[in-house]
Parts: sequence; C-alpha cells; structure tokens
Amino acid sequence: DLIKQIERLEELFLVPAEKLKEITDHFISELERGLREENATIPMNATWCMEFPDGHETGTFLALDMGGTNMRVCEVTLSDQAGEFDIIQSKYRMPEDLKTGTADELWGYVADCLQQFIGYHHEGEKIEALPLGFTFSYPATQEYIDHGILQRWTKGFDIDGVEGKDVVPPFEAALKERGVPIKLTALVNDTTGTMIASAYTDPLMKIGCIFGTGCNAAYMENCGSIPKLAHMNLDPNLPMAINCEYGAFDSEHKVLPRTPYDIIIDKESPRPDQQAFEKMIAGLYLGEIFRLVLLDLNQQADCNIFDGQDISKLKKPYSLDSGFLAAIEEDPFENLSETQELMQTKLSLKTTKPELELIRRLAELIGTRAARLSACGVAAICKKKGWSTCHVGADGSVFNKYPHFKVRGAQALKEILDWPENKGKGKGDPVEMFPAEDGSGVGAALIAALTLKRVMVGQ
Ligand code: BG6
Ligand code: GLC
Repeated sequence: DLIKQIERLEELFLVPAEKLKEITDHFISELERGLREENATIPMNATWCMEFPDGHETGTFLALDMGGTNMRVCEVTLSDQAGEFDIIQSKYRMPEDLKTGTADELWGYVADCLQQFIGYHHEGEKIEALPLGFTFSYPATQEYIDHGILQRWTKGFDIDGVEGKDVVPPFEAALKERGVPIKLTALVNDTTGTMIASAYTDPLMKIGCIFGTGCNAAYMENCGSIPKLAHMNLDPNLPMAINCEYGAFDSEHKVLPRTPYDIIIDKESPRPDQQAFEKMIAGLYLGEIFRLVLLDLNQQADCNIFDGQDISKLKKPYSLDSGFLAAIEEDPFENLSETQELMQTKLSLKTTKPELELIRRLAELIGTRAARLSACGVAAICKKKGWSTCHVGADGSVFNKYPHFKVRGAQALKEILDWPENKGKGKGDPVEMFPAEDGSGVGAALIAALTLKRVMVGQ
C-alpha cells in the first residue's frame, strides 16, 4: 500500500510544464498590478536604489545583515579597482525567541552586536559616524532610501509594535543610547543587495534572487513603467530597483497547486493568508511540509507507516528543517542507510525498506516542487521585461545547499520559456542563475556608496 501512497503523493506534488506556464502567466499580471496599485498582493516595493555600480565606487562602509537565520556585521572597503573589495565580518546568532519577543529587545540586540563589532575592530580608535547599509529582509514601504515602514513580518517573525511603522528611528535610538557611532545610509532588501553585488562583477546580471528561509527577487525597472509613482514626476527613463516581495504571490489562492499540507502550514502560521508562494517553496517550510505528510500517512487507517511506534517527536511542529530533507536527498546508499539512521536519531523511528523508499521519494517531490515553482517567479520577470537572455544572481541556504535545486530550477525555466533543446549549448542557458557575491555585505555597502554619491551630486 505504500506504493499507492507514493502515487498519491506524486499526483499532489508534481507540477507539469503546462501548470508552470499557467502560474507564470498569472505571475506576470500580478507583477504588473503591483507596479500599478498600492497594497497589491505582490507589493513591488520601490527601493530608491537607482543605478547599478560602475565598479569605481570607493570607501569604507558597514553592512548589517538581519536575515532569517543569522545576523552579520561586515566592514567592506571598496577599492577603486573595478569589482574589488575587502571585507571583515562577524556572525551573531539570531536567538529564536527574539523573533517573537519585543521591539526593544530586537533593536537592543542588533545595536549590541554593532557595538561589539566596532569595539572589537576599532578598539581605542576615535571614529566618526560610519555609514551603514542595513539589509533588512522584510517588506518595507520606502519613500527615501534611509527609511522603511515595515509592511508585515514574514519568515516566522512576529514582534508586536513594529508593523506599520518606520523601523529606522527605533534602530537609531538604540544605537544612540549605546553611543555607537553609526549613521544609517541605506535600508536595503537582501534581494536588492544581491542584484547590485552581482552586477558589480557581471554586467549581464539583471535580477537578484533569494532562495533561503524566504523567497523573493529584485530587478531594475524603469520609473516610466511604475504607474503608482507617476505622481512623483520622475524621469521615466531612470532606473529603479524593485523589491518584488513575490513570496506573497497568489495569497488569494487562484493558481498555485496547494496540497492539504500547504493549507495546514498556512493556517498554523503567525500570518495566515500571507506569503502563499513562499510557504510552498522556502527553506523555512520544506521540512514542515515533509513532517505533515508523514504524520498524515501515519494517521491514515489504510497505511501502516511507523505502525506501533511512538511518534511523539514527529508531532512537534517545525522540528525538521530543510537540512534534514537535504540529507535524505543526499543519501548515497542504495539501501538508504543514512536516511534510516537520520529517522532513528532525529525522530526515534525505525524504518523498513518500503518506508525508506517512500521517505526518499517524498523528499524528492517536495524539493523538486520547490525548485520548479521558484522558477516561475524568475521566468515571470524575464517575460515581463522581454529579456530572452540574462544572468540572475542568487543567494540563500536553499540555493547554495539544497541538492539538485539549481538543476531542477534550470530545467523548469527551460520548460516555461520554451528553449529549444540545443539552445545555449556550450555557453550556458539563455537565462542562467549564478551564486551571488555576498549581496548583503558588498551589495549593501555598494548601495550605501551609491547613495552618498547621489547626495553629493545633488548638493
Ligand atoms: C545570506 C545573505 O547569504 O542569505 C542574507 O547574507 C540573506 O542577506 C540570506 O537574507 C538568505 O538565506 P537564508 O537561508 O539565511 O534565509
Ligand atoms: C521574505 C521577505 C523578503 C526577503 C525574503 C528572502 O520573503 O519578506 O523581504 O527578501 O524573505 O530573505
């Protein structure tokens, strides 16, 4: 009966090319709607990052990276040799309870980390306020580059009193309280940073993507194609980086092939009915989808998976991360002995051969669906912009570490964009993804440098 279950799961999780195309078409119209309307499902946030670097940016900048898993502080020195830089950095753990604590605790912790960094790297020096690029990887409404009103928390964050407000004043207040000599110059999304850092060394880069705890992309639009900014009378030919925030795609549930497990994830999350696309593909959720499927199979009367065993560990929400799924997909042994060991150590479950085969197939199905659906967002941007060729800079734990993610994503792009079999042979695919050069360090520093340059020119 496990074979029947595998077939049922395949039906639920496989996404054929036709469906990918349908999703991409709807995606394009939603990207366009976001450029037209305030508060659309995909927010298409103007970032006020309005040019690509030319490689001659110079100076020393701090970069603070507050993503989903880690917090990093970097000091980046851009050299006048095009595309070159030096970087020193410290990583800090982002304590789990901070994500659902108070705003004061959050900003206090962030300011403490910055203070520690400066204390350590500039001990005893008398320093003037250092310019900072702050990579704040959540949706923010920006009217200038050094401000941002948090639209809503994503990626499991749930801190009261921050949404709907500018995040910069409380952040600066925490710095001031501690006497930390820093001046926030630019508030940056990780996708924008990724795009700018990637373009620093490769002029064909047009899109920055994150496939990590969350999933999102940024690209350069022309101001003339952003009707919601028409009232500002900007030069229509000026470029404007758009942080799409497309993890929010299809929150009305019109086109994505959701399974009952996706519906549970959404309902149980701190923000139901938000980030529908992200919840099917991002690293935060892959292990949880897997856990929910196994739990459901165990509870079905006609399926005897883990029969008679204590499943209390399997019952614990979010106990399995995407690294667990990755390890299963990477098990090199024919008899899946590593998977067997993982199930034993992590979940205290004994597994039979047919159970192991189901587990492996399930991991493949979830990982493949994530990669294939992810491609729809990238394809939608390319189709909307009429780019038949371009490079995409990508970062994030799923992109960098999840097995086969890149190949599966490339295959899906090919199916959506209908490349002929031999197109690009020997010179890469027409739309190709590359691992980004530290977008949240170098990218944030570059954006801070470009901002200062713009201010000086403006003066
Ligand atoms: C890191 C970037 O490499 O990737 C962060 O420095 C980004 O800015 C992160 O948010 C995304 O990946 P993950 O897996 O940590 O969410
Ligand atoms: C979430 C955030 C977005 C970020 C992405 C990747 O979707 O809302 O701002 O870019 O995760 O980290």
